[in-house]
Amino acid sequence: MKFILKILPVFFLFILCKPKPVEEKNASNPIKNSGFTIAFGSCNNQNLQNNLWKEISKNNPNIWIWGGDIIYSDTEDMTYLKNNYQLQKNNKHYSNFIKNVEVLGTWDDHDFGKNDGGRDYKYKKESQQLYLDFLDVPQNSPRRKQEGVYFAKDFAVNTSIIKVIVLDTRYFRTELTADNNSKKRYKPNLNSNNSMLGETQWNWLKDQLHNSKSDYTVIMSSIQFLSNKHGFETWGNMPNEVEKLERLLVETNTKNALILSGDRHISEISSKNIEGLKYPLIDFTSSGMTHSYTSYSGEENPYRIVDVIAKKSFGILKFDLINSKITMEIRGEKNVLYRTYTQKYMK
Ligand SMILES: [Fe+2]
Repeated sequence: MKFILKILPVFFLFILCKPKPVEEKNASNPIKNSGFTIAFGSCNNQNLQNNLWKEISKNNPNIWIWGGDIIYSDTEDMTYLKNNYQLQKNNKHYSNFIKNVEVLGTWDDHDFGKNDGGRDYKYKKESQQLYLDFLDVPQNSPRRKQEGVYFAKDFAVNTSIIKVIVLDTRYFRTELTADNNSKKRYKPNLNSNNSMLGETQWNWLKDQLHNSKSDYTVIMSSIQFLSNKHGFETWGNMPNEVEKLERLLVETNTKNALILSGDRHISEISSKNIEGLKYPLIDFTSSGMTHSYTSYSGEENPYRIVDVIAKKSFGILKFDLINSKITMEIRGEKNVLYRTYTQKYMK
């Protein structure tokens, strides 16, 4: 008995001091402001000079969204993949940048582990954990157990909610159809078994949009959604999936949705009027943070509204929540403003 009395206080002290597991938040603490700034970008080679981080900081972003190709590591060797993430994380410009900015994002093919890879990539489970390690996602997060890196978070800004959804266009993506009759790499295929997101992710997305109370929904896709004629990877290679997302936005009455993409090593802005949607659907592509498509000589894009920048660049979204406007900026080295476009949205 004496012994029990002796150890009891120690036991209670242990309970009180035991660190609580870190929980992942799907909603931010409210920000009292009439503005909100999102910075995003993609295609960042860990072995090349990362000289945009300081320039991105100058725009005082509230959050940073990775659009994929965070590193280049096409491999089946998970130690190599892990080391490449570590190289990126140790980059002094990047590590300084993330001290003051919340980081979200998705992957694309080169950080997933296979060029133009999809659901057949053998090491996708292992690769997912390394990706989540890179983003410092807690070990007890549901994202550690789900298949795929899709995620959503609400940002409360003054009286508005900005929902950010990051999609995974790799983990479940079915095979693409090669175009053997032209110089293009892939061609559209209407096969109803084709899937960009897979059933589980589609159901999750449906729930996210159905139950949303957000005033703006920013959807990061990694590959381009609207531009569909270039023959590289695009949602346009699966027209049924394009229609499915467009219908879903209409059916769920999603307010003020905007798509962000990367992958292409160019930056451009596309816009499409969709029947039933009360605002034009924009796809803002920002790609090429360390290396761009310098030999770009033009390509067809029926939805382009802001012409292509084929230089190293990043994207900025400035929300004006009082006037319901988003100003989109394509910026590059020395924070130079290459292009800007403002879209008025619904109140
Ligand atoms: Fe890339």
